[in-house]
Amino acid sequence: MPIYMRYRVLMIGFALSTTLASGSARAQAPRIPSNEDESKAGDYALPDPLVLQNGSKVNDAETWIRKRRPEIVRLFETNMHGRSPGRPEGESFDVFDTDAHALGGTAIRKQITIRFDDRKESPKIDVLMYLPEKAEKPVPLVLVLSFLGNEKLAPDPAIRLSTVWDRKTMTKRRADESSRAKKNAYELDQVLARGYGIATLCYTDIEPDFPGGTAYGVRPLFFKPGQTAPAADEWGAIAAWGWGLSRVMDYLETDQDVDAKRVAIVGYSRLGKTVLWAGARDTRFAMVIAGGSGEGGAALSRRNYGETLKHIKANFPYWFCANYQQFADRPADLPVDSHMLISLIAPRPLYLATAEDDRWADPRGEFLAAVAAEPVYRLLGARGLETTDMPPLNRPILHTIGFHYRPGKHAVTTYEWDRYLDFIDMHFSKRSAREN
Ligand code: GCU
Repeated sequence: MPIYMRYRVLMIGFALSTTLASGSARAQAPRIPSNEDESKAGDYALPDPLVLQNGSKVNDAETWIRKRRPEIVRLFETNMHGRSPGRPEGESFDVFDTDAHALGGTAIRKQITIRFDDRKESPKIDVLMYLPEKAEKPVPLVLVLSFLGNEKLAPDPAIRLSTVWDRKTMTKRRADESSRAKKNAYELDQVLARGYGIATLCYTDIEPDFPGGTAYGVRPLFFKPGQTAPAADEWGAIAAWGWGLSRVMDYLETDQDVDAKRVAIVGYSRLGKTVLWAGARDTRFAMVIAGGSGEGGAALSRRNYGETLKHIKANFPYWFCANYQQFADRPADLPVDSHMLISLIAPRPLYLATAEDDRWADPRGEFLAAVAAEPVYRLLGARGLETTDMPPLNRPILHTIGFHYRPGKHAVTTYEWDRYLDFIDMHFSKRSAREN
């Protein structure tokens, strides 16, 4: 039995949190102690995102874009997420369902299957999309990478039932009529009400989330003859999930009803880690919204607080490339840290959501990473958090980088969605687009 399955699995699921993006259970690692005392988080020096590997300083946007940014992308590829392939030649989109009067006539529904080759047994992604019927097209879109099957978004009998890989039993589970949502998810109603489209896909369509899951996902489609596992600097599971988001973007660029230049990607927890890397790599995403992303996401790895690289190596090594594992006991030697991941998203808007009781994800470590990425945002003419003091609870900061720290646990609540939408309004609404 894989190690992570032996650990206590903690379901976080009070009513508000059972939204589409939060259907995850958290595996914790009680055997490796974790620190939750701020005074023991340790001293560390962060690599300067604005100094090239040859030691010279980056003083202008051009040098950042031409030299430093690609350098940092390569460092993440080599040491953390691994290299991912580009768009597959055999990619195809099948819009198998369109309804111009869905959800009681308020929305347009589309369902699309994205295929990567023409073999029947290959993985494929099913995307479900609702666009506000009345809104002027093309509309900005919120693209949610979900733990759950598409039928959990709305009790709409036309939604294709999913087949989702269960990460605990490591088996495929086919949804049936009883799996359908009993009511619209909060985010569906709110996103449409504010005039945006929403699209969702389940991450296990791309690759299941357990050790050995590689065999059932997209990565083998790119193996060289005789290759049976990714090389030490080739993509891990998170990079594969992020690659899947880029394939959805390939489709969105072909859809006349969607403004592909205003697409926000949203993910929570491990899927928060995923949207950060997806947005870092693929600059077609205009906005990244990552909640509770923690270690391997927005939290600084050099801080000894909550989950650390050691825990990741013990519990979820397959999320990252093999080269990453060597840093488990020496995070200070990692040539990158999360502030550099954030800087790759600059100058595009990035929102980080954290919660007081989610110490495992190190909320302060996420805040400090955003602070350390600010010089890059500023260099590119955008606004960082503009403070070095962690904001109090329930006092979100909404600049080009947005951040909130709310009371409560690791979960997606209505508080998250309301703030996300305020942030989206700020950057995507017609008025703000004109002002920018
Ligand atoms: C575990 C893991 C975290 C991850 C979380 C989740 O708690 O340790 O790194 O973010 O699961 O995805 O639910």
